[in-house]
Amino acid sequence: MDRCTKLVDVGRRQFLRGGALAAAATATAVALPAAPAKAAALARVDYPSNRLGNVADLKPNEPFDVSYPDENAPGVLLKLGTPVEGGAGPDGDIVGFSTICPHKGFPLNYVAADRTLNCPGHYSRFDCEAGGQQVWGQATQNLPQYALRVDEKGDIYAEGVDELLYGRLSNVL
Ligand code: FES
Repeated sequence: MDRCTKLVDVGRRQFLRGGALAAAATATAVALPAAPAKAAALARVDYPSNRLGNVADLKPNEPFDVSYPDENAPGVLLKLGTPVEGGAGPDGDIVGFSTICPHKGFPLNYVAADRTLNCPGHYSRFDCEAGGQQVWGQATQNLPQYALRVDEKGDIYAEGVDELLYGRLSNVL
């Protein structure tokens, strides 16, 4: 009875391909530079401009609940009290974020003591003073931050988001 050698050849090729991929992955891991403080946002999505509130509505370091770009997308405005990355308004300290965790969609809670948004699902934490950078946990992207504009009357408008929003088949309205 003849032995089929084709399966042996296929197995050998798969093994060699796997070895080559492992070697390439190791070389890539070694060559990668240290991570920057916050990687550039991968996606800037220009949603329609929506008025979210007024500067007078905000109290320092207290979350002000909003929705953007529509009522199904909860978020928050924060007046942090010091100029920060992506900060808008006369003091450069007003920021806005989605409050849906980019990992698996749990609602986030604001912790005023360290100005982070925290996930009760798997404990991801996002730094509101650093553009929503993830500082702990399971998520694989930073928190979507709103692009804000404040007009001469103090009205605060969101005009886009710098990361993809969790759970949307399309991130373009
Ligand atoms: Fe937030 Fe998993 S859902 S860390």
